[in-house]
Amino acid sequence: MFYPFELERYLEELLPAREGLLQEMEGVALEETIPVVTPAVGHFLELMVKMTDAKRILEIGTAIGYSTVYLARGAAETGGRVYTLDMNRGRLNRAEEYLKKAGLAHLVDFSCENALHCLPKLTETYDLIFVDAAKGEYLDYLDLITPLISPGGVLVADNVLFRGWVVPGSVFDQKYDRMVGCMRDFLQNLACLPEFEVSVLPFGDGIALARKNK
Ligand SMILES: C[S@@+](CC[C@H](N)C(=O)[O-])C[C@H]1O[C@@H](n2cnc3c(N)ncnc32)[C@H](O)[C@@H]1O
Repeated sequence: MFYPFELERYLEELLPAREGLLQEMEGVALEETIPVVTPAVGHFLELMVKMTDAKRILEIGTAIGYSTVYLARGAAETGGRVYTLDMNRGRLNRAEEYLKKAGLAHLVDFSCENALHCLPKLTETYDLIFVDAAKGEYLDYLDLITPLISPGGVLVADNVLFRGWVVPGSVFDQKYDRMVGCMRDFLQNLACLPEFEVSVLPFGDGIALARKNK
């Protein structure tokens, strides 16, 4: 996180109380260093689904299903469905279990596939696509999902400010050079695409929010 921990904690305090299951998942993610969205970002995802009345939702990068729970909660209100994919079978199985516990599994289709192989095969369009898989592949995902977003549909991408290191002049370990470069390329390309209106929101690890023109 690149802004004061106190700010994220303050944002968290403003959220509705989280049910035990979400708190359990946060604990598991922390213990096993599985990167998941912050509670504020999860809440934002649910809100976005509801605000855009998204019916067809695609998530790239499920992990243990923490963000999927929020997307599915939104879908429960809109009458929508979430199609979530992750190439890690173990994590996906755990996600399915958690979604069952949350009573939301009936709203989610789980797919164990590499997004780079799976996305080119998709033919339907989505009202909201949430990108949260390999950071070095964001630009590839962008090419593949642009035609999959319905007119007026929304793209949300997590980690786009990558601990703030995406900001020119930031100091970070050389081993992150490639990842930071990829994220800069992703944002630069997204900002230039004539199909989208884009906003970057500096909370969590940085969120890109883009709406495809109608
Ligand atoms: C940051 S985690 C997702 C966290 C989840 N969205 C959440 O907030 O609860 C990224 C996940 O993307 C998956 N992943 C990475 N590259 C992928 C690819 N090319 N195709 C499918 N899944 C991928 C990893 O296995 C990992 O579980």
